[in-house]
Amino acid sequence: MQKRSVLVVDDDSRITSALGEYLENFDYDLKIASSGEEAMDKISDPSIAMVLLDINLPDVSGFDVLTRMRQSNSDIPVVIMTGFVSTEAAIEAMKKGAYEFITKPFDMDKLVGIVNRVMQKSPHLRGLEIFSKERDLIPGDIIGRSPEMMEIAKVIGQVAATDASVLIMGESGTGKEMVSRSIYKNSLRNDKPFLSVNCAALPETLLESELFGHEKGSFTGAYTRKLGKFEVCSGGTILLDEIADMTPLTQSKVLRVLQEQEFERVGGTETIKVDVRVIAATNKSLVNMIKEGKFRVDLYYRLKVVSIYLPPLRERRGDIPLLVDHFMNIYSEETGKKINGISKEAIQGLTKYPWPGNVRELENNIHTAVVMSKNNILLPEHFPVLSEQRETVNVDLSRIEDDYASMFSEFINPNFEKMVAVSGNYVYHHLQSGFEKALISAALRYTGSNQVKAAELLGISRNTLRDRISKYGLY
Ligand SMILES: Nc1ncnc2c1ncn2[C@@H]1O[C@H](COP(=O)(O)OP(=O)(O)OP(=O)(O)O)[C@@H](O)[C@H]1O
Ligand SMILES: [Mg+2]
Repeated sequence: MQKRSVLVVDDDSRITSALGEYLENFDYDLKIASSGEEAMDKISDPSIAMVLLDINLPDVSGFDVLTRMRQSNSDIPVVIMTGFVSTEAAIEAMKKGAYEFITKPFDMDKLVGIVNRVMQKSPHLRGLEIFSKERDLIPGDIIGRSPEMMEIAKVIGQVAATDASVLIMGESGTGKEMVSRSIYKNSLRNDKPFLSVNCAALPETLLESELFGHEKGSFTGAYTRKLGKFEVCSGGTILLDEIADMTPLTQSKVLRVLQEQEFERVGGTETIKVDVRVIAATNKSLVNMIKEGKFRVDLYYRLKVVSIYLPPLRERRGDIPLLVDHFMNIYSEETGKKINGISKEAIQGLTKYPWPGNVRELENNIHTAVVMSKNNILLPEHFPVLSEQRETVNVDLSRIEDDYASMFSEFINPNFEKMVAVSGNYVYHHLQSGFEKALISAALRYTGSNQVKAAELLGISRNTLRDRISKYGLY
């Protein structure tokens, strides 16, 4: 019987010979193509059970080879290998039906692991669903090359073309809305509407009317019939943002839309059928909310057919310089300033800063710095957060007998006027929850996110701690 073979398509002979050495020990042949044309010729060889494909080929791009393979109904598993690390490339590879996407320099053992896994399965192991029509790559969307962001890009590429619900989780400002738009833009529904509803912004009745619409006279102020977002969005995609804030009644109506694709307008009897893809986003832990009886478990499972967790920026600091560059370009253009760059000291400071407000906070800071810079170079002095960091207040804790009041006074007194300006009549409430959030974050950081230890250290119950973690989105 003829041996099955792996076709390696790469013009770099170092890669092909290294792979050859590794694969020698296994029971399959190695075939080599050093251009896209050669690859297309060789692919008809029936012994080929898998393809390792470079993107940068001398003639056509590896993506073109993959597209042509899929057009000619070849379902041979393809692993894309590339030195060009970008989320767009990862999304595109998975969308085009690649089995895996790996970046160079790669770990040979990992690659050989993938090869063995594929080769041991049936030779007809299918790649992912393939798009029927070609779609343009949407450039410049998601910035990042960290392994975390590359994984997310792959998931986006895999799920975009399906109608599966997606639950996006992550702290505030990590890019949840951006990811939902990317799923939409890469989906087959991208010629239909994309609508976003912030479930935290509206009280229950208004949210229901926003989602499902209402009939004339159904409540005070309902002077005319209004169509809800689900109806307007027919055939399209809806983002239910801050889903954790949805009340149980609304949750049950949304569940019905997901299960039966139907609902009634508020005050109406006619049942309306819809075809809408649902993406949900939250910065709170739905699991904790389920435990507390505040979120329906059946809805949770309906929403998280696919789930994406966006890690906080401080856990993927390698992406910071790229994001800085990206936002510098955006805001130079927007403000008409020709920013030439950023000083080394400033970029180091930005990379070390913990960014509690994640990418959004970084973006705002770059925007301000671009506006403030006079000599077209961004310097540490253009980033107030960096100097605040350096001037850590050293408090005299020997005066603890006054309940830390003097410590707080040192901070509150000079800033009180600003606080009143920002928080209006809510100063007490804002300050108190700010304090609680800061304290609990500190305890979690101190204990390496060990909730049992953190609760013990603070002298509060684990239930209270869990409640606050979910309330402040501190996972
Ligand atoms: N990886 C990224 N590349 C480029 N821009 C990003 C990235 N992540 C976030 N942003 C930008 O940061 C800002 C905040 O992102 P987004 O609104 O998607 O966050 P979010 O998670 O929805 O936040 P919130 O929970 O506060 O609603 C947006 O301007 C977005 O374009
Ligand atoms: Mg958002």
